Amino acid sequence: MPMAANQGSSGLASRSGCQDKRRPRRVQGHKLIGFENNPVVRHTGATYPILQAPMSWIARSSLVGAVSAAGGLGILETSGRDLETVKREYDAIRAMTDRPFGINLAIKFLKGDEARERAVLDWVLDGRVKFVTTSAGDPRRYVERIKGAGVTVYHAVPTLEGALKAEDAGVDGLVVEGGESAGIRGSEPVHAMVLLQAVRERVGLPMIAAGGVVDGRGMAAAFALGAEGVAMGTRFVASAESRVHENYKAAIVAASPSGTVQLPLVRGAMGRVLKTEMALRMMAGEDPPERSRNGVADLYIGGRTDIAMGSAGESAGLIHEVKPVAAIIEDAVSGFWREIDRLAALRDSARV
Ligand SMILES: Cc1cc2nc3c(=O)[nH]c(=O)nc-3n(C[C@H](O)[C@H](O)[C@H](O)COP(=O)(O)O)c2cc1C
Repeated sequence: MPMAANQGSSGLASRSGCQDKRRPRRVQGHKLIGFENNPVVRHTGATYPILQAPMSWIARSSLVGAVSAAGGLGILETSGRDLETVKREYDAIRAMTDRPFGINLAIKFLKGDEARERAVLDWVLDGRVKFVTTSAGDPRRYVERIKGAGVTVYHAVPTLEGALKAEDAGVDGLVVEGGESAGIRGSEPVHAMVLLQAVRERVGLPMIAAGGVVDGRGMAAAFALGAEGVAMGTRFVASAESRVHENYKAAIVAASPSGTVQLPLVRGAMGRVLKTEMALRMMAGEDPPERSRNGVADLYIGGRTDIAMGSAGESAGLIHEVKPVAAIIEDAVSGFWREIDRLAALRDSARV
């Protein structure tokens, strides 16, 4: 069975006895590092193996730039119809930070219009970024072109079967999306606890865990299950730099761990949303006439949590306040090492 270098588990097994050497160093005043040999960090150029997940309309300059400036890897989304907007957002991020960021190519949304697809690929692969993610489709459509341009590509998968196909296609790594995550999913989602282990058993590529992670505890858990990085969506929606309406952020903060449901959203595909009265009516088979058909206008801009479906992962139940992106990332990193130390101490006490 091929195994990727898993910094989480290898660190756990060998920490005791050489703790000083391996203890993450404090640099630049407040920043903690310690991921120099992590494959996701090597591929992305970020300081930490923490990605901000792609999200239509939300993963734009204010959020992407803030995540990358704080040492994570922001991912700019390109699923809108308009390349000019993407270009403007790209320039705005570049003006905010000289740290690396990535771009997501949502295959299903791009392939509908071949001229636009070609234009987006030409523009993205013209030396603009060194890391892209692909999602929602067959990665074989783009892998050769992306790698030919010297760019690293991770493909997002919600199943073991998808992971095996992506490996065959030649991607450099995977974003493994558990069923507790937000986003468009199949009708039988597999949650991250099982999916990460199943993929790690069969696939040796670097693996980024998406779904259910909001802090260092979740990050350490993902590493224990075989991941070498994490991607957070819902956590960053409820950040100070996220451009959505405060009502939406407040609804995420208010949600309990059982505060989301899965609904058929886009052409029958399932999506996880906040459990509002409207969502419950839809689950019961109703199609309420007052339901919003334009989530960007009504929810993201207008704050109408009552009539629009708000995408959110089960992770919403772990989010207790809106925080600045830098605090989210610093807390995740320090919390991660705290959990690693706690687990390593189990080994020490077992020897006594
Ligand atoms: C508001 C919102 C919008 C999202 N939109 C997209 C999208 O457009 N494309 C996509 O591939 N994933 C989308 N996702 C899913 C994320 O990329 C990511 O897989 C997910 O948020 C991870 O789970 P978490 O929310 O528990 O962190 C979205 C997630 C949220 C919360």
